[in-house]
Amino acid sequence: MSRIVVVSNRVPLPSGNAGKAGGLAVALLGLMERRGGLWFGWSGAVTERADAPAFAQRGRVGYATIDLTDAEHRGYYSGYSNGVLWPMLHNLPHLMAFRRQDLETYRRVNRRFAEHLAPLLRDEDRIWVHDYHLMCLPGCLRLRGIRNPTGFYLHVPFPSPDAAAVAPGIRGLVQDVLAADMLGFQTAADRDNFASSAVSFGGALRTGDSTMLCDGRVVRLGVFPAEIAPREFAATAEFQARSESSRLLAKSVQGQALLLGVDRLDPTKGIPERLEAFRRLVARRPGRRVAFLQIAAPSREEVDAYRRLREEIDLAAGSINSEFGEPDWLPLRLLARPQARDTLAGFMRLARVGVVTPLRDGMNLVAKEYVAAQDPADPGVLVLSRFAGAAAQLGSSLMVNPHDAEGVAEALQMALDMPLAERRARWRAAWDAIADTSPEGWGERFLRSLSSDDLAAMPV
Ligand code: ADP
Ligand code: F6P
Repeated sequence: MSRIVVVSNRVPLPSGNAGKAGGLAVALLGLMERRGGLWFGWSGAVTERADAPAFAQRGRVGYATIDLTDAEHRGYYSGYSNGVLWPMLHNLPHLMAFRRQDLETYRRVNRRFAEHLAPLLRDEDRIWVHDYHLMCLPGCLRLRGIRNPTGFYLHVPFPSPDAAAVAPGIRGLVQDVLAADMLGFQTAADRDNFASSAVSFGGALRTGDSTMLCDGRVVRLGVFPAEIAPREFAATAEFQARSESSRLLAKSVQGQALLLGVDRLDPTKGIPERLEAFRRLVARRPGRRVAFLQIAAPSREEVDAYRRLREEIDLAAGSINSEFGEPDWLPLRLLARPQARDTLAGFMRLARVGVVTPLRDGMNLVAKEYVAAQDPADPGVLVLSRFAGAAAQLGSSLMVNPHDAEGVAEALQMALDMPLAERRARWRAAWDAIADTSPEGWGERFLRSLSSDDLAAMPV
């Protein structure tokens, strides 16, 4: 079996350095632990002199990571990846803050990844590059003469060509991505949007749902929705619901229905809009108490838009509690720190309503985790943004437009009042959609497609 070489910006090192909340590590860790291979990326450290890779080993996975200098971190990670590409890809262009030197640094760091990765590669390796931080990497590897089968997977959405064009530099990046053999996306819409951009400014020709022709080469496209391990998560949730932290939470809500939001503190997650919807929910049911727990793990705090968001939600949370709170009750609890994933599983099982309302999201694994965590005999209700990739699979949830605060408040109200039979039916349909999926299955499907020459076997 050929060796898998995963390349990603964030690497969950054995030392636990990068134990940050995020979908990418959750999706890939199990696959890599089972299969073994090499994981290459950023060490998570910012140092004065960033030189050769450092190596580590855990089980069958070898890790090779490089540090970034402060200037590289600012330009490549905070500046262009998270200050330009992230908002553009999520169709929030007003949050973009472009500086030409950040684009230069982004390209230079991608070249540095290629320079350090190339000597570690063996002939039989299959290379799997992840996400928007590394869009130049397939092109950089080809320039260095690397011919190994190379896949690229985008964990986040891709917008229409018009929306993509607002990010200076995107044309070159699309061309570099097209140097890969196999491209994977979360949804068919993301795949089609990327293909349209490849045609508009990458010089490619679309020859089918799953194929493009680019400089005389066939580039394949596929849809691979990211998955969790639902049965494992369900077992953890059942166990954790009896833990001390869950017991204390249940006791503190004193029989009130619990609503729960769990996110990275990110402008795409729609947290201020969600708080506004909750404000309206509380206002429309005087005397009927509820408890909303919003857990928001700080993320990318060097980026201005993220700092401003933190201030905005702190203010909004304070004003909801000061407006509606009583001496013996505060409707909202906002925790701006991460929680252990096991603890979250227990909280999800206790929550009558899971509130997952991103403005846009590649997938949103929290939505799947909430479904998996429920007690089948007495399940809660998922209120889900139609702009999350997960909406394509979890159609039995209460689907909302996160920009419509009144509409979200109505859905929350409906979720709180939903009869048991309807909750069970909706939950069953959602569970059936994810029950037989797994991160390993997701990864294996991508890797099979990467090595397959059989286009008829391609996923659509
Ligand atoms: P993203 O990749 O944008 O962070 P996802 O919802 O796809 O979003 O994945 C997030 C992962 O990180 C999930 O497994 C989720 O449980 C975890 N996570 C999200 N928010 C938190 C938090 N506040 N504390 C701890 N873990 C979190
Ligand atoms: O899911 C998108 C993503 O950027 C992942 O690549 C990453 O694991 C997660 O969000 C967290 O972001 P960051 O690595 O910037 O902390």
